[in-house]
Amino acid sequence: MICLGIESTAHTFSCGIIDNKGKIYANVADAYKTEKGGINPTDAKLHHENVKNKVVEDALNSANLKLEDISLISFSQGPGLAPCLLVGMRKAKELAKKINVPLIPVNHCIAHLEIGKLLTKAKDPVLLYPSGANTQIIAYEGGKYRVFGETLDQGVGNFIDSFARYIGLGFPGGPKIEKLALQGKNYIELPYVVKGMDVSFSGILTNIKQKYDSGKCDVEDLAFSLQETVFAMLVEVSERAMAHCGKNELVLGGGVGCNKRLQEMCKIMCKERYAKFFVPPSEVLVDNGIQIAWLGLLQSNQATTDYDTIDIKPYERTDDVKVTWYRLFTV
Ligand code: ATP
Ligand code: FE2
Repeated sequence: MICLGIESTAHTFSCGIIDNKGKIYANVADAYKTEKGGINPTDAKLHHENVKNKVVEDALNSANLKLEDISLISFSQGPGLAPCLLVGMRKAKELAKKINVPLIPVNHCIAHLEIGKLLTKAKDPVLLYPSGANTQIIAYEGGKYRVFGETLDQGVGNFIDSFARYIGLGFPGGPKIEKLALQGKNYIELPYVVKGMDVSFSGILTNIKQKYDSGKCDVEDLAFSLQETVFAMLVEVSERAMAHCGKNELVLGGGVGCNKRLQEMCKIMCKERYAKFFVPPSEVLVDNGIQIAWLGLLQSNQATTDYDTIDIKPYERTDDVKVTWYRLFTV
C-alpha cells in the first residue's frame, strides 16, 4: 500500500510518498520564506497555490510513480493556518477523486511523533515537539497521545523568530540565532519561566527586547543566552514527563529540534538518567509530507471516499485524536 501525503499547515507545502513497510519514495517540499518580517497567512496561502501542482508532480517523478500507483491520499487537517490548510485539503481531494482512492485527514503534531518513531525505531517515547507554532511534550497513555506540558502562549520557534525579526534577521530566524549564539561568550540572565509542566515565552521576549534596546548587550551574547535559557526550560519539562510516565526514550520532532545545542542538552539529560535519545533526520523535523503520508497509512482503516464529509480542523489538539493504531504497527 502506497500513500501520498500533503502537508500545508503553515509555511511549507510538501508532498511525501511512503509505503506500509516504511519505504520512503519521495519527500518534496517548497517553503515560503521572507528576507524580513514574519509569516503572512495570505502570502503563505498564495505561495502554496503557486507551488502545489509542481510539488506533487516532482514527488511522483522522483518516486518514479504514476498517480494511479497511489492507493491512499492523506493531508494535514490541523492544527494550522486555515487558508494554508484549505490549499492542502483541496489538492488532496482533487487527487483522490481523480484516481478514486480513499482520503484520510491526519493531525500534524501526531504525524511529527509517528515519523520520529518510524525513523528512529523508538518504541514508546516521550516526544519533545518544539516547532514554530507549537511547543508540546507528548506521550502515549490510555489510548491517546497526551500533552504533558506545553507552551502557555507562543511556540518556541515563533518566539525565536520574533526576536530574530526584532533585530533585523528574516524568517525563519531559528538557524540565524543558532549561528549567532555560537559566537556568544557571556550568559546574560533572562527570565526562566516554567509553570508546573508548562512553559511560557512572552515575558522572556519582552525582557530580551528591552536588553537589546538598552544597547548594553552584545547580540551574540543575547542569542546565546536565549538558547541556553529556553532550551533548559524544554529539557526540564521533558525530563519530568519522562519520570512521570516511566518512559526511557526521548524523541525530538519539530523545526526547533534541528538546533544542535538543543540536541546536545537533550542528550546530556538522557545520558544522566540512562535513557535513550533519538533525533530523526532534519528533513522530517521540519514540516514534511512524509510524516503525513505515514500517519495516513497508520490510520488507513478510517479513510473514506465520502470526500465531502471531510474538512480542515485548524484548532485540533493532539489529545482530541483517538489513537487506535498504537500497538498495531511495528515496521
Ligand atoms: P508546526 O509544526 O507547529 O506547524 P511550523 O509549521 O512553524 O510549526 P516547523 O517546520 O516544524 O514548523 O518549524 C519551523 C520553526 O523551526 C521556525 O520557527 C524556525 O525558526 C525553527 N527552526 C528551524 N531550524 C532551527 C534551528 N536550527 N534552531 C532553532 N530553530 C530552528
Ligand atoms: Fe510542524
